[in-house]
Amino acid sequence: MNLFDVYPLFDINIVEGKGCHVWDEKGTEYLDLYGGHAVISIGHAHPHYVEMISNQVAKLGFYSNSVINKLQQQVAERLGKVCGYEDYSLFLINSGAEANENALKLASFFNGRTRVLSFSKAFHGRTSLAVEVTDNPKIIAPVNDCGHVTYLPLNDEAAMRQELGKDDVCAVILEGIQGVGGIQLPTDGFMQALRAECTATGTVLILDEIQSGYGRSGKFFAHQYSGIRPDLITVAKGIGNGFPMGAVLISPMFKPVYGQLGTTFGGNHLACAAALAVLDVIEGEGLIENAACVGAYLLDGLKKFPQIKEVRGKGLMIGLEFEQPVKELRLRLLKEQHVFTGVSGTNVIRLLPPLCLSMEEAGAFLERFAEAVGHV
Ligand SMILES: Cc1ncc(COP(=O)(O)O)c(C=O)c1O
Repeated sequence: MNLFDVYPLFDINIVEGKGCHVWDEKGTEYLDLYGGHAVISIGHAHPHYVEMISNQVAKLGFYSNSVINKLQQQVAERLGKVCGYEDYSLFLINSGAEANENALKLASFFNGRTRVLSFSKAFHGRTSLAVEVTDNPKIIAPVNDCGHVTYLPLNDEAAMRQELGKDDVCAVILEGIQGVGGIQLPTDGFMQALRAECTATGTVLILDEIQSGYGRSGKFFAHQYSGIRPDLITVAKGIGNGFPMGAVLISPMFKPVYGQLGTTFGGNHLACAAALAVLDVIEGEGLIENAACVGAYLLDGLKKFPQIKEVRGKGLMIGLEFEQPVKELRLRLLKEQHVFTGVSGTNVIRLLPPLCLSMEEAGAFLERFAEAVGHV
């Protein structure tokens, strides 16, 4: 049997990782400014993470959600404290798309409506509702195209007020910082106006913090820069540092109903051990402060390159927009400079390193970037 060939692959087999570095099977070392697509939060193979997962799997890897799992309660308590949402509840699943799927279902159960507002360039995942609110017709199958969604330009207050004013919108979903869309930032003013308008019209506000959350922006959630509190917050990626996991943080206005949501694997013992290890390290090593500090240094350094049209981002979520396609540059970074980066569309390089990136590693990246971009 062959693999279903849906991913264009680099001809590199990564077999080992440590902190912000990975190695291929030939022993070549790479600096990881991509974090496996923003997934690696605390660094590759962190010893505490390895120990917690190893101990847990030796004891109990999985039992079903029909019995008490005290690890889930610990994750909820710890996460609530660290992120500042102690009064919210937690529903655990396995991926980002599932988190958005469940958030949209909760919103619709709550107010009985079916229309959803999403934004240009949004990416929310590939399951049925998650892909329908994703602004990319190429990945929306006809069966997913059910007419629930209106897309609006990001930061367009007038358009947002006009749609919400119809009083028939179930939910608005937006990313704390758009990732796949090329590191596009909602303004604080837009976020505050959106929050007020959702409250006034009985619309549920869903913040997708799957890429921008878990400390990546230099705050636990990117939306916390604007001071608003959404009704539902979705997380995944960094929550398990590579262990598949997702979650919805749910405001107290939602009352749980037995059987309304459910999952076989969500919140299993092993996933919870991973999530607890991640929280231990984020707190113990001050990784959110590190993301803010090293991110500011990187943003500063990158703004000095005249070859870049625009540098956007917060913390360790950075987009570099060029006038021309970046395919060649990204390949030079990888093959000649041994640095992993991401892209968005054709003209944007995306930096999403582990949150433990040190100043020295950031400096090394700037040097290698200068070589690759031809600016020394
Ligand atoms: C903002 C955002 N939402 C949702 C998803 C989907 O997450 P998953 O691939 O875990 O389903 C992603 C993945 O890149 C994402 O960046």
